[in-house]
Amino acid sequence: MKVILYMAMSLNGFIAKENGDENFISHDNWQTLVKLSGEFGNIVIGRKTYEAVKNWGEDYSFNDLKNVKKVVISRQDLNLDDGYILAKSPEEALEILKKENFENVLVTGGPIINSSFINLNLLDEIMINVEPAVVGKGIGLFYPDDFEKKLSLIDNKTLDNGIVQLYYEVIK
Ligand SMILES: NC(=O)c1ccc[n+]([C@@H]2O[C@H](COP(=O)([O-])OP(=O)(O)OC[C@H]3O[C@@H](n4cnc5c(N)ncnc54)[C@H](OP(=O)(O)O)[C@@H]3O)[C@@H](O)[C@H]2O)c1
Repeated sequence: MKVILYMAMSLNGFIAKENGDENFISHDNWQTLVKLSGEFGNIVIGRKTYEAVKNWGEDYSFNDLKNVKKVVISRQDLNLDDGYILAKSPEEALEILKKENFENVLVTGGPIINSSFINLNLLDEIMINVEPAVVGKGIGLFYPDDFEKKLSLIDNKTLDNGIVQLYYEVIK
């Protein structure tokens, strides 16, 4: 089972402004997430991303991802909304999805979860959509931590509206 991180970020590596505002990230990037999650049949997100997206309203909601297993990672005993599965760790999230025979797992943030996965050496590939925007202050792709990984480029392409997609394998 392959574990792939997908995130959208500004040219200078921010996935949100310091206050969590993601208005610089376009609708096209949400559509990429919708498409990938449909292909994979699952998404894995951190508790804070689950809560942040819940506050975005009806235009952008994980509830729109139909027939997609949605796993939320938290150390807390949370009561999640219908359609969401709780995992207490990245390893447990992957165990849940492995039992369902998924070929690929889509991890999609936020930065704390991204760092947890990469620190545990659980990421096989990283796909980044670079939004044509720069942001002065913000939240990085990974939560600051002391790790270093080499990557190998699998593919790169230009999508609609100036988005550049970079796709890497994580060298283990
Ligand atoms: N641009 C993009 O593509 C994109 C994608 C996703 C998210 N975002 C943004 O990212 C922000 C949220 O990211 P974030 O980094 O603050 O939070 P996050 O990664 O979404 O969630 C962090 C939470 O996940 C749980 N967690 C993390 N590592 C864990 C581990 N090893 N074991 C068990 N639980 C673990 C903890 O939950 P508990 O505290 O409940 O234990 C932790 O507080 C939001 O603003 C969101 O909109 C942007």
